[in-house]
Amino acid sequence: MSKSAKTLFIGGVLAGTAAGLLWQRAQDQRRLAEASDPGNRFLRQYGPWALVTGAARAEGLGYSFARHLAGRNFNLVLVDIRGDELAARAAELEAKYLVKVRPITLDLGRADFLDELLPQTADITVGMVVCNHMATPKETPTIMEMDLATHHALLNINARAYTTLIHTYGRPMIARGRGGIVIISSGAGLQTTPYTGAYSANKAYQRALGEALWYELRESGVDVLVAAPGLMDTQGAGLAGYPQWMITPADPVAVETLAALRRGPLVIPGPVNKALMFIQTRLLPRRLAVEVAGQFMAAGLGKGQTGG
Ligand SMILES: NC(=O)c1ccc[n+]([C@@H]2O[C@H](COP(=O)([O-])OP(=O)(O)OC[C@H]3O[C@@H](n4cnc5c(N)ncnc54)[C@H](OP(=O)(O)O)[C@@H]3O)[C@@H](O)[C@H]2O)c1
Repeated sequence: MSKSAKTLFIGGVLAGTAAGLLWQRAQDQRRLAEASDPGNRFLRQYGPWALVTGAARAEGLGYSFARHLAGRNFNLVLVDIRGDELAARAAELEAKYLVKVRPITLDLGRADFLDELLPQTADITVGMVVCNHMATPKETPTIMEMDLATHHALLNINARAYTTLIHTYGRPMIARGRGGIVIISSGAGLQTTPYTGAYSANKAYQRALGEALWYELRESGVDVLVAAPGLMDTQGAGLAGYPQWMITPADPVAVETLAALRRGPLVIPGPVNKALMFIQTRLLPRRLAVEVAGQFMAAGLGKGQTGG
């Protein structure tokens, strides 16, 4: 990328961010009012149980969703592969919010995971599903460096399981004429991110599935929303190589997403992320956008420069 294009890009992000911040402040006031859920309207539309996947890590987005839903009196089914941490999160939520929580330790990459999950939710009404879990190798191999078995495992976890959960719990929602489906994609599902190419492709799958589903269900009473967060401080030192001003906590992402559930198909939480995605997906030509993302990821992941 040339120096002037780089300057234009950074200037655009900063200008967009400033505009986004002003807009965001007004939205925050409205969200605060909605978060209290007067008259339990939110709970009646999307409750009484919510199923949240990938909710075991205390700093993760899934646990943030769980906390905000428990705060609105939702009972929770929490699913994750990390059993001990999941049990700890469930105990914390039950003690603090006095709601029922079912922690279910499960590998969502298994082809038969429903055989274990369904019997444990057969006696309850799951009115909301938050598909939030994800897997991606920490060493971030390129598409061709990654072995095929890992590609297939990621497809099972990040794509197949999303379809399975949405289909399984979404059909009864349609029959009831109410419900909510939240799909946690990523900015990497809107723009293409080299060096996490498999993850990016998985996230694009989730986004396309969710946006199409939003359209197909718009008269059904079931609200569908795709969230495309930017960088969040949920991965510890894993994000040390990225510009730190781009990184947000998980909590505001959960709050903005829940507040947007009636206004699908897509929410891009946070002003920095909104500005960045506007430039990457609306302003730049496709080729330049992929190059910008490639260089950004190379720098962030310490991959060294690849030219361009
Ligand atoms: N963090 C970011 O910067 C960022 C940016 C954009 C979008 N997002 C999206 O936001 C969501 C939450 O991200 P996060 O950073 O909060 O993630 P996180 O805390 O790492 O949560 C993901 C959880 O899913 C679990 N998981 C992985 N494979 C599983 C499997 N086969 N079955 C069941 N559970 C499994 C993980 O366990 P292990 O840790 O043991 O694998 C982890 O506990 C993800 O969908 C992510 O793609 C994140």
